Amino acid sequence: MSQDLILDAHNLKQHYDVKQGLFQPNAVVKAVDGVSFALAKGKTLAVVGESGCGKSTLGRMLTMIETPTAGELNFIGQDLLSLSKDQQKQLRQKIQIIFQNPYGSLNPRKKIGAILEEPLVINTSMGKAERKAKALAMMAKVGLKTEHYDRYPHMFSGGQRQRIAIARGLMLDPEVIVADEPVSALDVSVQAQVLNLMMDLQQEFGLSYVFISHDLSVVEHIADDVMVMYLGKVVEHGSCEEVFTQPKHPYTQALLSSTPQLSADKRRQRIKLEGELPSPLNPPDGCAFHGRCQYANDRCRIETPALRCQANQHLIACHAVEEERLTPYDGAA
Ligand SMILES: Nc1ncnc2c1ncn2[C@@H]1O[C@H](COP(=O)(O)OP(=O)(O)O)[C@@H](O)[C@H]1O
Ligand code: SF4
Ligand SMILES: [Mg+2]
Repeated sequence: MSQDLILDAHNLKQHYDVKQGLFQPNAVVKAVDGVSFALAKGKTLAVVGESGCGKSTLGRMLTMIETPTAGELNFIGQDLLSLSKDQQKQLRQKIQIIFQNPYGSLNPRKKIGAILEEPLVINTSMGKAERKAKALAMMAKVGLKTEHYDRYPHMFSGGQRQRIAIARGLMLDPEVIVADEPVSALDVSVQAQVLNLMMDLQQEFGLSYVFISHDLSVVEHIADDVMVMYLGKVVEHGSCEEVFTQPKHPYTQALLSSTPQLSADKRRQRIKLEGELPSPLNPPDGCAFHGRCQYANDRCRIETPALRCQANQHLIACHAVEEERLTPYDGAA
C-alpha cells in the first residue's frame, strides 16, 4: 500500500488558545489531538464522529487552510508543512475541499460559469474560451446542463448546488478531495445521488477522498477505511468492512446502533448513546468517553487508552477491548 500513498498524517494536532473571562487565563481547546492516517491513491477515508469532535478542523489542516500546531503532513511523500508559500500554493491546488453548505460557499451574485472558472482565472493562464470549455465539460461530468452556465446559485436545488460545488472543486484537477459533510444538508434520496456521483467521479479521475460525516450510515458504501474520532482523538480506525461488521470501540458501537436505515437483523443490539460530548475546554481525565460508556471502570477514569492495533490493521483505543471484557457487538452466539 505504501507505494501509492497520496496523503499521510502523523500525530497532527490543532490546539486553539481561547479567551475566557476578562480576568481568567486563556484556555486551550485541543480540537485535534494527535491524528495519524495514510490514504492511498483512489481510496476513500471516512472521518466520522459527533459534531464538535474535530472533523472540520482536521479537514482545514489537510487542505492547508490552517497550519497544524504540531505533527507531520505529507502529500505523495512531500512534507507539506515545510514548503515555501509558493510551493504550498501549487500543492494546495491538488487538495481541494468541498463544504456541507453549498449555498454558503457559492457566491450568490455570480453565475455558475463564473463560479467554476474562478479557480482557473486565479491559478492558470487559460484564456476565456478554454476556461469556458473546461467549465462546460465539468458541468456535464457532474450532471448539469449547458444552459445552467448562465444561471445563479439560488436557481438550483440543494442537490444541484452540491454538484456545482463538486464541479468547482474539480476544476484544477486535484488529486485529493476533502469533503466536509458534503451530503449532510440534503434529503436522504438526494444524498444517494450525490454519493453515487462522487463515486463515479472518483473512478473516472482516480481521486482520493477524505470524506467527513457525523453520520456513519452515509459512509458505508463510499469508504474504504473508516476513522472514528471522539473529542479530537481517533478511537477506532479500520477497513470499512471491519468497522461496520465488527465495531470494537463502545463509541463506534453506539454510533452504529443509532444509525437508522440498516437492516433490523444487523442491529439486534441497541446501545444508546447517552449524555453529551464533554466540553473540549474541560475534557475528562482518562478515556474521554468514560462518562458515557457502559464498560467504564476505574482504570478508564485515570488512564487514557492508547490507539493499538487489535487485528487486521484494526486500531482501537479502549482498555476494555484490550482486557477482552466487551460483550460481542451484535449479541450473536
Ligand atoms: N478557531 C477555533 N477556535 C477555537 N475553538 C475552535 C475553533 N475551531 C473549532 N474549535 C473547536 O474545536 C472543536 C472541534 O470543532 P470542529 O472541528 O468544527 O468539529 P466537527 O467538525 O467535528 O463538528 C469544537 O469544540 C470547536 O468549538
Ligand atoms: S477505555 Fe474504558 S471508558 Fe473508554 S471506551 Fe473503553 S471501556 Fe469505555
Ligand atoms: Mg464540522
